[in-house]
Amino acid sequence: MSSRRKFIKTASLFAGGSISLLNSAFTKGETIDFEKATNDDELFAMVRKQLLIPDKLIYLNTGSLGPSPLEIIDGMHAITRQLESNPVGENWGSLGNQMELVRKKVADFIHADADEIVLTRNTTEGLNLIAQSLQLNKGDEIITTTLEHGGCEVGLDFLVKTKGAILKKIELPLPGNSVMEIVEAIKKEITPKTKLLMLSHVNTITGMLMPFAEIAKITRPNGIYLIADGAQAPGLVNVNVKALGVDAYSASGHKWLMGPKETGFLFIRKEFQELVQPVFTFSGLTAYSASSGTRNVSTIIGLGLALDFHNRIGTDKIQQRTLQLRNYCLAELKKLKGLKIISPESSDLSTGMVSFSLDTVKNSEIFNKMKERDIIVKLLTQHNAIRISCHMFVSKKGY
Ligand SMILES: Cc1ncc(COP(=O)(O)O)c(C=O)c1O
Repeated sequence: MSSRRKFIKTASLFAGGSISLLNSAFTKGETIDFEKATNDDELFAMVRKQLLIPDKLIYLNTGSLGPSPLEIIDGMHAITRQLESNPVGENWGSLGNQMELVRKKVADFIHADADEIVLTRNTTEGLNLIAQSLQLNKGDEIITTTLEHGGCEVGLDFLVKTKGAILKKIELPLPGNSVMEIVEAIKKEITPKTKLLMLSHVNTITGMLMPFAEIAKITRPNGIYLIADGAQAPGLVNVNVKALGVDAYSASGHKWLMGPKETGFLFIRKEFQELVQPVFTFSGLTAYSASSGTRNVSTIIGLGLALDFHNRIGTDKIQQRTLQLRNYCLAELKKLKGLKIISPESSDLSTGMVSFSLDTVKNSEIFNKMKERDIIVKLLTQHNAIRISCHMFVSKKGY
């Protein structure tokens, strides 16, 4: 094919296809003025309009990956263009400075200090940085649960293999019933050899909110490190690392914060920084350092935009809305036969996710039927279960 014909073919593909859709979307991506909303339903409908998810699709899988609003997509696009206009000048100049400010934004968001924040690529990376550099000895005990995500488990397996640590996985009740029950289940596994507790802040299988502050009352006085896998928390529930009493907290920007993909952050408490020294932060915790090497300024600044977006709505409002939606789903699910709710019902353990396991039907069958109806949920293979994530943009009206 001649290069002219090739060009015409490619151009016509672009004209009718998804690229033109994307271009028209870019024109809509200005900052949303939430002040214009006369009530909360209107406000959350404005958020929904900012998503590239087609109107007919009911997206209930933010727990796996959240959709970014147009203002964030466009913001990143603009940053990329600025970067490419003068790569070195921007990367180590204006954009480099903006990237560094994101650490402060993250710190404010989770009630930490900027010099306790490392900008990572995701939760898994943050937890791995801790696991790689934590000084444990042979026979030291680690406590976790049987309901953790692989991104957390891999670092614990590493500690078992390389340090000879002993890993104890607690089986928590499904569903969890009360804070006391959870705390007691953990407390009774702690021995004088226990050195580390690694738990999810919001559980990936059940959406259960782990009562960290209560657990920290046991770990901190006994010199036991408490580390949170926060992948499912920021953007869904309020995160205050000081109140939670954690030594380290690792989270992602691409789930409930609806931020750019491959963004995350790791909080390392000041006093804990002497005990964990990964090479990645050896020359400082700054976004760019000799040990971090060159970063993706567009995505990192995009994480800052995602935080701005959330702050304009407010975590309390989002938490309230997601809980309302989840309670509605829960009530509807309870009317159905053949399934068991595995998420907690008590309000102090609940978040905007609800999961159910199936008695006789295979979960993939239900998953596929939902997909046929344009409803996207998460398949929990090991538990023959399904997880529903109710982020603020979901509506009872069915979008
Ligand atoms: C509790 C938990 N931890 C870790 C991860 C891994 O997250 P990431 O891929 O962003 O590192 C997930 C992802 O679903 C999760 O739910």
